[in-house]
Amino acid sequence: MDDTPSFTLEHRSRASSSPGLTERSARVRASRDEDLAAVAAIYAHHVLHGSGSFELEGPTVEELGRRRDEVLAKDLPYLVVEQAGVLAGYAYANVFRPRPAYRFSVENSIYLDPAFTGRGLGTLLLRELLLACTEWGARQMIAVIGDSANVASIALHARCGFRFAGVLHATGWKHGRWLDTVLMQAALGPGNMAPGIDAERTRL
Ligand SMILES: CC(C)(COP(=O)(O)OP(=O)(O)OC[C@H]1O[C@@H](n2cnc3c(N)ncnc32)[C@H](O)[C@@H]1OP(=O)(O)O)[C@@H](O)C(=O)NCCC(=O)NCCS
Repeated sequence: MDDTPSFTLEHRSRASSSPGLTERSARVRASRDEDLAAVAAIYAHHVLHGSGSFELEGPTVEELGRRRDEVLAKDLPYLVVEQAGVLAGYAYANVFRPRPAYRFSVENSIYLDPAFTGRGLGTLLLRELLLACTEWGARQMIAVIGDSANVASIALHARCGFRFAGVLHATGWKHGRWLDTVLMQAALGPGNMAPGIDAERTRL
């Protein structure tokens, strides 16, 4: 694997140096408790109709709140994107796996309201998440993408500097068909070019 860090602050300045319509009218911010109902509605739509999530039923607002608390307890980012004041999507990162040697690797989740897809908001949101996770001290971000046919998610991650890391074939059964798990990965900050240095928050 090429060790060149694939996400740096330059990605962000390039994105904001020539703002298009989306960058001008959208903003990414930290999520709040009152966002949870909209977050739950967005996620439920994709659970019921898409392949991005391998859940089969949309979780309750309370359950999503519990999951968000878990992320925030680690000081990891849970962000939303708004356009014209309407919550259009959300993204967060959690540790990739619970065992402690994984503590510099995070896994991302990102979902947009279907009415707001395809206009650059996913890119804006994921770039902010990458930045926040880099600042947190993470060194790798892993996207576990529901299905090889999820071209939007694969294109989004490629656009944000993720590289293809493998496919687990036919690992999900949903909507009457087998779904692949596509793995993509981005190095953050110095990636593996410097030792993992623990800060208070990377200690699990
Ligand atoms: C994946 C998702 C977050 C992307 O957000 P988005 O705002 O639509 O993406 P953007 O507009 O920033 O575009 C990013 C890239 O995806 C491509 N894209 C977006 N929607 C697409 C679609 N329906 N079909 C094909 N490509 C698409 C864009 O062309 C762009 O690629 P490019 O740089 O090669 O031109 C969003 O489509 C979504 O919520 N999908 C359903 C949930 C999901 O699968 N989440 C990921 C879980 S693994």
